[in-house]
Amino acid sequence: MHLTREEERIYDGECGWANQVCIRILVKLGELFDARELIPISSAHVSGVSYKTLGDAPIEFLEALADSNGKAMVKTTLNPQSLDPEYLTKRLHGNVVKKQQTILRQFGRMGVTQSLTCTPYYLDKPKRDSHLAWAESSAVVYANSVLSACTNREGGPSALAAAIIGKTPDYGMHQTENRRPNFLVSVETKLRTETDFGALGICLGRILADKIPMIRGLSDTSESNMKQLCAALASTGMTNMYQLESHSTLIKKNELQRISIETRDIKQTIESLTTSSTSKPDLVFIGCPHCSLREIKQIARLVNGKKVRAETEFWVCASQHVKERAAEDVNKIERSGGHVLAGVCTIVSWTEMLGIKTIMTNSAKTAYYAPTLNKADTILAPLEECLNTAFGG
Ligand code: F3S
Repeated sequence: MHLTREEERIYDGECGWANQVCIRILVKLGELFDARELIPISSAHVSGVSYKTLGDAPIEFLEALADSNGKAMVKTTLNPQSLDPEYLTKRLHGNVVKKQQTILRQFGRMGVTQSLTCTPYYLDKPKRDSHLAWAESSAVVYANSVLSACTNREGGPSALAAAIIGKTPDYGMHQTENRRPNFLVSVETKLRTETDFGALGICLGRILADKIPMIRGLSDTSESNMKQLCAALASTGMTNMYQLESHSTLIKKNELQRISIETRDIKQTIESLTTSSTSKPDLVFIGCPHCSLREIKQIARLVNGKKVRAETEFWVCASQHVKERAAEDVNKIERSGGHVLAGVCTIVSWTEMLGIKTIMTNSAKTAYYAPTLNKADTILAPLEECLNTAFGG
């Protein structure tokens, strides 16, 4: 890989240990994928923030980077942590809280913004064609597909290394020729809810592996539905982007491999993501990926004046940034007995410690991961059904 003189100096350790380790991570990655050079990025987004998913081992590495003056050179945001600063902090035991705070402190010392969200694009929308190093798979697919920015699916360490160097290896999604669709997906059924869009993503991720689909036949491409599709697609496969046929540039469609998705595929996927038949889940959870302002407003309108029923918790997750801007709607949800939790999500939190055994959600991604990561049974259903359950109809 070609390095500039300045990059060589960093590589040789002339700019400190943290910079040296980081550039070495990037060069190794670049060599693996035959990148010719490093290119500047406009932002990084780092995953591996929750103490629950990170564990103890990487904390020392983060401390060492911060001690050696590792500093983010570009705007850098963080994925959700394992608790929010209010509700869950009070309910979880001290050791977990302390460890989580230690992790956040190290990122803070490195100049990373404590955004704690998987929807960093609500804080600052990347420009079209800008190069990023993002490490949250749902946000990666969203950035490439909806925002037309360019990012590979980074891991936590490579995103942090890219943040500290301000560059990433030039391969994969950064190169125009790798962003062309190589699969045509005809959706032969009307997708009615966000849950249907999530189910489409789960279904396609399993079939496509890392192929890029051109999708035909989506009638409602609202932001919320696209967000669910992105998150689910990234859960079951390595696809990093899709294109809608209506937005596609000239492409020889007859050369693409083809599949159709029918009503029964969506129905079967939703059924497979529902593992419980109870009508009284312990938790009803909305906000995977984190809610937008518009989604919080919609929830507040639907729950206004109602009360969460006994023995069910109702959580809505969003970034602190969105929560602050939705204060009036947050109050309505909290007056109804729900909790709007900032900077956390169910999957990366300690729901088992809270005795939560069944989770109902409108997110296909959560329904896919919760049985393994939360040891919980799941019910996947659209928002209004989730609300009817939480509020007793
Ligand atoms: Fe975000 Fe957690 Fe879902 S990080 S995409 S809310 S699993």
